[in-house]
Amino acid sequence: MEHHHVTEELRGVDFWENHYGTSERVWSGKVNQVIERLVTPLTPGTSLDLGCGEGGDVMWLASKGWQATGVDISPTAVQRAETDAAAHGLVPPQATFIAADLSEWTSTERYDLVTLSFFQAPFDFDRAEILRKASLLVAPGGHLLALSHAARPSWAPPLEGKVPPFPTPQTELDALALDSDQWDILQAEIIERQITDPNGNPATLEDTVVFVQRRN
Ligand SMILES: C[S@@+](CC[C@H](N)C(=O)[O-])C[C@H]1O[C@@H](n2cnc3c(N)ncnc32)[C@H](O)[C@@H]1O
Repeated sequence: MEHHHVTEELRGVDFWENHYGTSERVWSGKVNQVIERLVTPLTPGTSLDLGCGEGGDVMWLASKGWQATGVDISPTAVQRAETDAAAHGLVPPQATFIAADLSEWTSTERYDLVTLSFFQAPFDFDRAEILRKASLLVAPGGHLLALSHAARPSWAPPLEGKVPPFPTPQTELDALALDSDQWDILQAEIIERQITDPNGNPATLEDTVVFVQRRN
C-alpha cells in the first residue's frame, strides 16, 4: 500500500507526473460515446481539450477535421500525445499539445468547441475556476462539453479519506455561472453506461454530462 500512500501525498503536477510515469500508454483510438454522439453533428472548427491527458480525444477530433488543441499539466502526457499524434500523421495545426497548468494558462483565442473529459482529481484543486475560464474561451456560436465521473465505479472500493465530491449537473452549472442571455443549456444530466467490470460482471458507470452553447 506504499504506492497508495505516496500518491495520496502528491498534488498538482507531481501527482499527474507520477500517474503518467507509472502507467503504460495504449491509444485505443476510441472516443467516449457521449463525446462522439454530441460532437459528430457539429461542423468541425477549432477545438480545445482541457486536461487532455495522453491526447486520445484531441486525436479523435483532429481525425474528424477539427483543428484540435489539447492542454495538460503533465509534460509526460503531452509528450506522449505529441508522439502518438505525429505517428498518426496528426501535427500542428491539426493536433497541437501544450504542457501548462490551467490554473495559470489562458489564451486570447476563442474556440468553436471546448471540452473537459474527466477533468477530476482525488484531491481538491481549483476545478470550478478552470471550468469558468473554459466558458470564456468559447467562441460565439461555439459549444462547451464537460464530461465527468458522477460516481465511483460500482465495483470500486470507496476512497479513503477526504476526497472532493463528484460533479453533478447542478454543481457544474453553478461553477460555470453562465449568463442565460448568452448561453443555451443543451444537456445537463447524468448518463449511465453499461459495461463489463474487471471481473467480467455487468456493471454501471455514471457520467455527468453538461453540454452548452454560446449564442452569437
Ligand atoms: C482523469 S485525467 C483525464 C484525462 C483525459 N481527459 C481523459 O479523458 O482520459 C485528468 C487530466 O487533467 C490533467 N490536469 C489536472 N489538473 C490540471 C491543471 N491544473 N492544468 C492542466 N491539466 C490538469 C491531468 O494531468 C490529467 O491528464
